[in-house]
Amino acid sequence: MERGSAADRQSLREFGEVLKGRRTINLYLDLEVPRELVRDAIEAATWAPNHHVTEPWRFILMGSDAVARTVDLVREITAAKKGAEFAEFKAKSWAEKPGWLTVTCRHSEDPLLEREDYAACSVAVQNFMLYLWKAGVGSKWTSGDITRDPRFFEILGIDAAAEFVVGMIWFGYPRVTPQQSRKPLADVLTELP
Ligand SMILES: Cc1cc2nc3c(=O)[nH]c(=O)nc-3n(C[C@H](O)[C@H](O)[C@H](O)COP(=O)(O)O)c2cc1C
Repeated sequence: MERGSAADRQSLREFGEVLKGRRTINLYLDLEVPRELVRDAIEAATWAPNHHVTEPWRFILMGSDAVARTVDLVREITAAKKGAEFAEFKAKSWAEKPGWLTVTCRHSEDPLLEREDYAACSVAVQNFMLYLWKAGVGSKWTSGDITRDPRFFEILGIDAAAEFVVGMIWFGYPRVTPQQSRKPLADVLTELP
């Protein structure tokens, strides 16, 4: 494609629409996402920029047993905090999520390295989400209490001394795509002379 051509600009606009159009999805169709697509999205995730190329991430695709145990755990945690009725509502809504991926980041003794590793893992999650979005698959990054709970670590076989959870990512074909807004560019951009 010729640089700066109309086709080039159109392709760039479409790329921008994918970036800007991705939304956090709460409600999904009861449809499984093909495993091959999910694996491709995880592979794309690993191409995130990563200082020193430490590749600090681990991707844990959760199967039905891990999901069922996680749903039981969230019911237990929520019941203790907010009562049985709300716990049941939350557990039911979690049980409806079609796809589950947990992303971890290695711990590091050097705080700067750990911060940069976390940044790289966050970019990896974004790569994963955008790759899926382009394929019509939505996702939601959650970092609720459960992602720091030792019982969750046990379910997933995570060694808390070696790694921490960056996020649990639900994914699936969207049933509802919500609206979002952002501040105007002028509010967040400083252009120095
Ligand atoms: C690090 C991180 C953690 C998040 N954790 C949660 C969460 O625990 N619960 C939640 O509802 N959304 C969570 N989100 C999603 C944001 O709420 C969502 O991105 C925001 O509302 C903007 O919506 P959009 O993604 O559709 O642009 C998280 C996002 C990030 C980047």
